Amino acid sequence: MRRILVTGAAGQIGSELVPALRERFGADSVVASDVRFPPGPGSEEGPFEHVDCTHIREIDAVVRRHDVDTIYHLAALLSAVAEEKPRVAWEVNMGGLYRVLEVARAKGCAVFLPSSIGAFGPSTPAVSAPQDTLQRPTTIYGVTKVSSELLCDYYHTRFGLDTRGLRLPGLISYVAPPGGGTTDWAVEIFHQALRYRHYTCFLRADSCLEMMYMPDAIRGMIEVMEADPGRLEHRNAFNVAAMSFAPERLAEEIRRHVPDFRIDYQVDPSRQAIADSWPDSIDDSAARQEWGWKPEWDIASMTRDMLERLRERQRPAFPSD
Ligand SMILES: NC(=O)c1ccc[n+]([C@@H]2O[C@H](COP(=O)([O-])OP(=O)(O)OC[C@H]3O[C@@H](n4cnc5c(N)ncnc54)[C@H](O)[C@@H]3O)[C@@H](O)[C@H]2O)c1
Repeated sequence: MRRILVTGAAGQIGSELVPALRERFGADSVVASDVRFPPGPGSEEGPFEHVDCTHIREIDAVVRRHDVDTIYHLAALLSAVAEEKPRVAWEVNMGGLYRVLEVARAKGCAVFLPSSIGAFGPSTPAVSAPQDTLQRPTTIYGVTKVSSELLCDYYHTRFGLDTRGLRLPGLISYVAPPGGGTTDWAVEIFHQALRYRHYTCFLRADSCLEMMYMPDAIRGMIEVMEADPGRLEHRNAFNVAAMSFAPERLAEEIRRHVPDFRIDYQVDPSRQAIADSWPDSIDDSAARQEWGWKPEWDIASMTRDMLERLRERQRPAFPSD
């Protein structure tokens, strides 16, 4: 039985990872932590601690108090926010990880780290980017993600720490809002389609990126930590893919369910430049071979489910509301 700490638990991923871990390991075995209180119902179902990951004493105290053996380290600044505050991004993304790894080393904890397709750059092959390839990102987010992958590898080879990670694509979910990334449009579009039948996209119509529905990502994050270590050649970080599409393609899919939906484009040069530096799709054969990764959701099933779930959430609790 694991005793798990999740940092950055109030964010888009943590809002769904924490309940999934609690269902599997028991509510009291999963400590959620963040610098802000988790929004929404369900967050009070297990322990919550204030942990700023740039303060080693706070991490250390919680790991000791709850006898933690596994840390899911989610706290980070995402790509668009990081580009606006590169110094803070370095401090949180690298400083936070370094302190988490140091506490994990002292206590012998396993560490999961979510890397990103942002760890690739313009010189990475744009189509089906391989597991092992050129990684020369041009964003501060990407620089911290490559460095994080390397630092986690280093703690494994140098200190024998059980570090594992996934290079996650843009994540689509209906539970918590995205935290300021380049793929936020693929969540916003659903809310706007249902509310206004119209969405103005900040990326170009043909800007193709790798994407994944949150249930696949959550399952992948749990499965990789349960994989047989003897089979793992790569640890930090596995490419995981599910679907690759551009805004015009998702708009077409949404129109199957919302026929009068319209999309137009007002390109944000900063986020477009980030998107242009990332590959269109990635090759996840290493994850498939080494621990049996397989996505369950494609663009059609994800779109249907997103619209259904969001419609349910928008429905008033009482008919007279
Ligand atoms: N969401 C995606 O599409 C995506 C894709 C690839 C990788 N990732 C990675 O997954 C991780 C989590 O992403 P997310 O989408 O949930 O992000 P998010 O922005 O929604 O959540 C991040 C959380 O970290 C917290 N945080 C910020 N600074 C902190 C600090 N100093 N100490 C503790 N907590 C702090 C924030 O309050 C926030 O709740 C990040 O490492 C991100 O790079 C996310």
